[in-house]
Amino acid sequence: MTTLLHIECSPRKQRSASLEVARSFIARYQDNTPDTEIITLDLWNMALPEFDELAMEAKYAGLNGTPLTTAQQDAWDTLKDLASHLHRSDVLVMSVPLWNFSIPYKLKHFIDLVSQKDILFSFDPERGLEGMLINKTAVVMYARGLDFSAQSSTPATRFDFQKPYIEAWLEFVGVTDVHSVIVEKTIMGEDVDHSARETATQLARRLADSLCR
Ligand SMILES: Cc1cc2nc3c(=O)[nH]c(=O)nc-3n(C[C@H](O)[C@H](O)[C@H](O)COP(=O)(O)O)c2cc1C
Repeated sequence: MTTLLHIECSPRKQRSASLEVARSFIARYQDNTPDTEIITLDLWNMALPEFDELAMEAKYAGLNGTPLTTAQQDAWDTLKDLASHLHRSDVLVMSVPLWNFSIPYKLKHFIDLVSQKDILFSFDPERGLEGMLINKTAVVMYARGLDFSAQSSTPATRFDFQKPYIEAWLEFVGVTDVHSVIVEKTIMGEDVDHSARETATQLARRLADSLCR
């Protein structure tokens, strides 16, 4: 059985372009591979714990090799539980809106919680840093309101901190098989939005076919 984890990062559930494209991908993936378990983490409808003083103390106690107090251990176990969804998955689908050149704060919150030594990466003086999410495939649906082509007034080279950030994070935590579909110009008029979604949906379905071959 394949386990597909979908991390939903848009608060809007009806009109979200990233979700629409991700859902098309997932539906086709499931058609192609019926024995797929789908798990959804909706970052806007779950209580993400604060990364507070206790969590920081637990983190630094771990880094310094100091025993954790019971309260610190509880805080640490909460982070481990959250990250367990990532470890469990074979395919990680992320639907990611672009907000102010970057990612929504809920996704950054999630990343700050789970990206910990001995949870998502290891460190060894000889081997250095190593991501622990190995043998996984990531599929990321990026949605953007504006045009990010080279000739636009917001070219990706200067205004995109969304895709490079997610790709750097995935690489850091060990995911090397990474695919993406971009749906952009979603706020440039109804027709432009519609056509961008259509094109991205076709690409997502084709991607699902190629991954299930
Ligand atoms: C808080 C916020 C900030 C945004 N900032 C940008 C931006 O910097 N550049 C851009 O092209 N679009 C921006 N947008 C538009 C979104 O990227 C666009 O609506 C996208 O379709 C959102 O993804 P979704 O449809 O999956 O929710 C922003 C939207 C919101 C709500």
